[in-house]
Amino acid sequence: MYVRAEEIDSQRQAPGPRGWPFVGVGPAYRVDPLSFLTRMQQQFGDIVTLPMGSRRRLFLLSDPAYVEQLLVAHASNYHSRDINRSAMEFLGDGLLNIDGETHRHDRALVQPSFSRRQVESYAAIMLDHTDTMLHRWKPNTEVSFRHEMQRLTLGIAAQAFFGLDLRHESAAFGDAFSRIIRYRPLTVIGVPRPKWDLPITAYGQMQRARAFLDEQIYARITQRRQQAIPGDIISSLVQAGMRDEQVRDHAMTFLAAGHETTANALAFAFYLFSTHASASTPLLQELAAELGNRDVVLDDLPRLPALDRFTRESLRLYPPAWIIGRRAVADDAIGNFRLPARSFAIASQWVMHRMPRYWPDPLAFRPDRWLPHEQGGQNIIPYTYFPFGGGPRTCIGMPFAQQELRLILARILQHYVPELVPGQRLVLEPHITLRPLRGTRMRLVPRLR
Ligand code: HEM
Repeated sequence: MYVRAEEIDSQRQAPGPRGWPFVGVGPAYRVDPLSFLTRMQQQFGDIVTLPMGSRRRLFLLSDPAYVEQLLVAHASNYHSRDINRSAMEFLGDGLLNIDGETHRHDRALVQPSFSRRQVESYAAIMLDHTDTMLHRWKPNTEVSFRHEMQRLTLGIAAQAFFGLDLRHESAAFGDAFSRIIRYRPLTVIGVPRPKWDLPITAYGQMQRARAFLDEQIYARITQRRQQAIPGDIISSLVQAGMRDEQVRDHAMTFLAAGHETTANALAFAFYLFSTHASASTPLLQELAAELGNRDVVLDDLPRLPALDRFTRESLRLYPPAWIIGRRAVADDAIGNFRLPARSFAIASQWVMHRMPRYWPDPLAFRPDRWLPHEQGGQNIIPYTYFPFGGGPRTCIGMPFAQQELRLILARILQHYVPELVPGQRLVLEPHITLRPLRGTRMRLVPRLR
């Protein structure tokens, strides 16, 4: 019990729509969750009860104080495992799917692998893979940035977390991985897909891809047990005393959580770059003034504040992690409202990052709002902006991602000024992450240096 029973009795039921019999608002949510959640917040306020069918209720929290309560102050009352369980099942007992004491214990064990020094040591991998891509690109041709960024960040994550250089491997690893993360266990209206394990069904192909990846990962674990490599994540998990299955689940989670989000963030950033000349010019000017003809390196990052503001603002407008969900263990009270045990609570970066109450002209892409004297600089209200979450489950890869985003953006923009191919519309796909489904085809216009 998180608050006393009599206290909960005095709490009110949060407002919300009635929904349809049996299915509640489930279908409306699934068809277009971004608009639906935004509408619900606008219509009903900062805490909304959403009936999801089968007597399941979901609470949408959009007051920063409520979000702080969910992620930080009452964090131990909220579990993650039941959220997206079917979609994330292949991650096993990695950090995203474990709770309570097990989470605390394992998080402490893997934390050193994401220390500042360790993350800085990955800069060479990040830049090296970016250079390989730049060499492959041909000036004045068109590429899909979503596709290119996905390939790039998967390559970086596989090398950083598994010591596996996909540039020298067949495409099988990347293909298998994409097949698993693209698999949808439910149809759009929430009906479970049949689990026919045949080579031609989506489920069967996903299972085969998973078996292939497992084989690759277990082979690496066996190698590292025989010979540890300093600074290698699998080696450090093995040395921390984890069983093979635990190492597999953690490594798989780092790979999954660590590349798709970053790829989406980059694709969105380049889309915004190519569609907002006035916001992009200061960034190009800064790169030219600070670096001249020299390629960016890690030590340059602190001297590139416009790059920092550009990245922050992209993550505000298009947060790759667009929603955080939890399940209440015991009854709780959020503000003056009752949140019963076993109900689901969500906080949405998509909704919060675009609320006019906290963000003047919220839909405008304005990196300058992050200047020190502006609203985003100093006066930002905690939990109105949380692209990496917060509290004990804050993204463990945040320093890795922040470094990777800045290095890749800068290095590409030193060589090319990508121009959006005309006639495209950005189409968003909010699944586990928010990604650009279409609308990121760009022409690679070489930059004259
Ligand atoms: C732009 C890139 C990224 C974004 C926007 C992002 C966002 C997030 C968010 C919002 C959470 C919290 C989820 C929750 O509270 O339920 C999270 C957790 C996590 N992220 Fe990231 N992430 C990014 C990159 C990375 C990278 C590069 C890694 C590398 C390993 C990573 C690994 C993880 C892991 C393991 C967790 C679970 C942490 C825990 O529960 O203790 N992420 N991420």
